[in-house]
Amino acid sequence: MDKNSKSIIEIIKSRTSCRTFNPALLNKEDKTKIVKILRDINLTSPFNEKKQNCRFEIIKLENKRADEKKKLGTYGFIKGAHQFIVGITRKSKYIKEEFGYIFEKLILDFTEQGFGTCWLGGTFNRTNFAKSVNLEENEHILCISPIGIPSDSRRLTDKLIRRAIKAKKRKKWEVLFFEDNFLNPLTEISVGKYRNPLEMVRLAPSAGNKQPWRILKEKDNNIFHFYWIIGKNMNYNKLHKVDMGIAVCHFDLTTKELGLKGEWTIKQDPPFNFNKFKYVITWEG
Ligand SMILES: Cc1cc2nc3c(=O)[nH]c(=O)nc-3n(C[C@H](O)[C@H](O)[C@H](O)COP(=O)(O)O)c2cc1C
Repeated sequence: MDKNSKSIIEIIKSRTSCRTFNPALLNKEDKTKIVKILRDINLTSPFNEKKQNCRFEIIKLENKRADEKKKLGTYGFIKGAHQFIVGITRKSKYIKEEFGYIFEKLILDFTEQGFGTCWLGGTFNRTNFAKSVNLEENEHILCISPIGIPSDSRRLTDKLIRRAIKAKKRKKWEVLFFEDNFLNPLTEISVGKYRNPLEMVRLAPSAGNKQPWRILKEKDNNIFHFYWIIGKNMNYNKLHKVDMGIAVCHFDLTTKELGLKGEWTIKQDPPFNFNKFKYVITWEG
């Protein structure tokens, strides 16, 4: 890590969703930074999908007419942003989880450079955004994010959205992390050097701030199985799959930075079967 770059832990801790942007146009230097980050992003993840199944485009509102801008709606959720990053995928088995991993990596790179972002999976006009990018056959927009300089203060709507979804809050360790079985919570002390990777999962953003990930550590082994909790009216649908990719991204980047070596595998026969939990992926240290 060079002297000026921040640690992944600092970056994750400093990220929050930004829904109010400074309305001034981005300067040339910032625009170049955005293009460079998008160009350099590594299109791979532990889910190992084909590279061409995921790509990104920038939509610049500054070149659009007022009526076009209006149509590209975010239903009042986002204010002041002049650019959006559009995440485009092609169907394949783990593409949503993979997209979650890659898009979150992008968001963290933008955060490190001082840009504001906000994952949007629902509150935008998908049809009109689709008309503004060049979608090929079998391609879909999965999520988008505004990108820009955060405004110095949040407007009232922004504060109300955050309050409604309790955006600041995260579930406690004992609700999210377990050892051996889902009745036995894993404590921050007993997990030793894996405390930070798990804490970074805990701080991850998720759709509606639902925090659907649950992690089960094997007793006496540094093996962590990632599950998704099945709730009332909660199918393992597209945004939950994206949430899982984000959690895997935070765990992966943090273990790598701390020098904790491990491999990701998707077990064909899940190690533990539980009615309430759906198995997704395993990290073996
Ligand atoms: C996959 C995904 C989809 C999301 N979709 C929306 C959305 O449509 N509209 C919105 O305002 N926020 C959306 N969010 C942002 C979450 O509400 C936010 O991440 C969560 O409340 C935690 O707040 P924080 O990001 O400030 O930590 C989404 C987040 C994720 C991860």
